[in-house]
Amino acid sequence: MQNVMRVGIIGGGLMGREAASAFGRWFVLDRERVPVRAELTAVCDLQPSLLEWFKGVPGVRLLTRDHRELLASPDVDVVYVAVPHNLHESIYVDVLRAGKDLLAEKPFGIDLGAAERIAHEARVSGRFVRCSSEFPFLPGAQRVFETARSGRLGTLLEVRSCFWHASDLDPSKPANWKRQVRTCGEIGVMGDLGMHVVHVPFRLGWKPVRVYGQLQKIYGERPDGKGGMAVCDTWDNAMLHTDVLVEGREVPVRFEMKRLAPGATNTWSLEVLGTEGGARFSTAEPKTYWEFQRGKEQAWSRIDLGFASVFPTITGGIFEPGFPDCFQQMWAAFAVERAGLLGSRFGCVTPDEAVASHQLFSAALRSHEAKAAVAL
Ligand SMILES: NC(=O)c1ccc[n+]([C@@H]2O[C@H](COP(=O)([O-])OP(=O)(O)OC[C@H]3O[C@@H](n4cnc5c(N)ncnc54)[C@H](O)[C@@H]3O)[C@@H](O)[C@H]2O)c1
Repeated sequence: MQNVMRVGIIGGGLMGREAASAFGRWFVLDRERVPVRAELTAVCDLQPSLLEWFKGVPGVRLLTRDHRELLASPDVDVVYVAVPHNLHESIYVDVLRAGKDLLAEKPFGIDLGAAERIAHEARVSGRFVRCSSEFPFLPGAQRVFETARSGRLGTLLEVRSCFWHASDLDPSKPANWKRQVRTCGEIGVMGDLGMHVVHVPFRLGWKPVRVYGQLQKIYGERPDGKGGMAVCDTWDNAMLHTDVLVEGREVPVRFEMKRLAPGATNTWSLEVLGTEGGARFSTAEPKTYWEFQRGKEQAWSRIDLGFASVFPTITGGIFEPGFPDCFQQMWAAFAVERAGLLGSRFGCVTPDEAVASHQLFSAALRSHEAKAAVAL
């Protein structure tokens, strides 16, 4: 008999609805490799129009504007929380104290202190807690991870891990909670995009020992959507130049998080270079994996990948993967790891990794302020 994981969502906006889509087609996952069935049973949001939208989602039995009502439901085992960053700590702690497991959204608290308190609560509650980061579940990202882990690249030369957006280049784009320190956090774009760029390097054991942070604020205000202007006080772009100790040697690892990256809609990329070879993947070319092998001639091979997902689905092996696929793969990893069945497969960000990401971002703020590298 299949194990059932009943999920409640708090925050049914952009990501809450994406999660509903992942559960809605859960049956595509191979039942032997993912012997857990996910069911969305309850949703909480403050906006009536979103609750109305969820009425069209099969299986949802409870719709509420009060997250405590959702947490009191015996039909919820796991809660996915996708709300603004200033609400992470209080709602995550409420989830854990209600005895539910948690898939938290990044950045796992508005700042380092909040992340540490959430991680502490996760430990003392004994609940299963992971944090969202889905791009590493794409087949191309997995190939870079496996190649880097294999040692085939020789002595590591450098690593570049990036997540770029461009929509903020338009100054008429209205402000929202992600553009303001009060709701997004002082770390700004690092809180928005940072978990995505640290997940694979951290999982490979590449944790920075030093960071030099270059942070930029370009647009100080934007239309508020009501005819006026709103202050936008978060960092728009962040480039973190770090040193990572790999086999006793310092390796430069650059983390780039940008809201103002000309030409990039939602481009996640990872490149790892060594003396014997290189590996790179970008969501700009979702089915293409690039590999370099040292030889007399300098050539990168372009490998046309198919749908080689971590958790197999009914989708044909030659088809292309996309955002909804990697988001569902991340949920499959959560469900399988929660059931104690992950084995050697790639898993979601742990609370310790989330705290380590905040340590890096907080050090980057100090580095930028001091215009000097900061040790971690
Ligand atoms: N994993 C990813 O790729 C990804 C992408 C975007 C955002 N995020 C993260 O997801 C989270 C939410 O971002 P989003 O883009 O979905 O935001 P959003 O603004 O689209 O949605 C947030 C929702 O939370 C609701 N909300 C606010 N306060 C609430 C409360 N007290 N109780 C219940 N609902 C409440 C709002 O009404 C809104 O619908 C953030 O942590 C963000 O960083 C992750």
